[in-house]
Amino acid sequence: MARKFFVGGNFKMNGTKESIKSIVQGLNKAQLDPNVEVVIAPPALYLQLAQDEVKQATVQVSAQNVYDKPNGAYTGEISVAQLKDSEIHWTILGHSERRTILGETDEVVASKTKSAIDGGVSVVWCCGESLEERESGNTVAVVERQLAALAAKVSGDDWKKIVIAYEPIWAIGTGKVATVQQAQEVHEAIRKWLKAKVSDAVAEETRILYGGSVNGKNCKDLAKEKDIDGFLVGGASLKPEFVDIINSNL
Ligand code: G3P
Repeated sequence: MARKFFVGGNFKMNGTKESIKSIVQGLNKAQLDPNVEVVIAPPALYLQLAQDEVKQATVQVSAQNVYDKPNGAYTGEISVAQLKDSEIHWTILGHSERRTILGETDEVVASKTKSAIDGGVSVVWCCGESLEERESGNTVAVVERQLAALAAKVSGDDWKKIVIAYEPIWAIGTGKVATVQQAQEVHEAIRKWLKAKVSDAVAEETRILYGGSVNGKNCKDLAKEKDIDGFLVGGASLKPEFVDIINSNL
């Protein structure tokens, strides 16, 4: 079964009501590849605005994070039920900025992922290594460690609700995109790990996205790789070239 190409736009902590409305209106007017699944992830304050503005059938709105408790005294957090109440059916989880800056552990990310899926929210689950880890030859070991924590929490059909995003930390926001070979090598290792530790079907069906300085120019060569099923885009998702990235295969 062919894996449906998937492009996520992670707006991070950027934008205003006006700028986010303008981005969504730009997407509404664009000719988008109908065979590509798109999610855009504005800051939580603007989820409803984006949700109300989106008109393209292939575009959904995603949160950038969610908490793993059902409700209660967790100041500042948002629950899975509140996302569903707002008809938000996706969330990013485990972004390296939350792992490194906010100290989210592999286990916390895995617990959030299970809670999101159990509550009916699909997950773009992020993994990736630091420059130091890559330079010491530990890239695959780091990603496999992160995957193992995830696999300890999710099982069976949960995997149908997970899209994996490999984002080398050294490529995020730096303009230093991974080479096609670097990206494909890690994507292939992730797929091999899924085949060995989970199942042939999960390995075959799970979309594995590349993220880290993707733009309208480098996306086409990356998209040609057999184990690159799409992108998780930061900076370029705020720009008109996000349409070119969505249309990488055209
Ligand atoms: O989640 C996507 C993001 O980390 C990539 O950022 O700006 O390098 O595309 P950027």
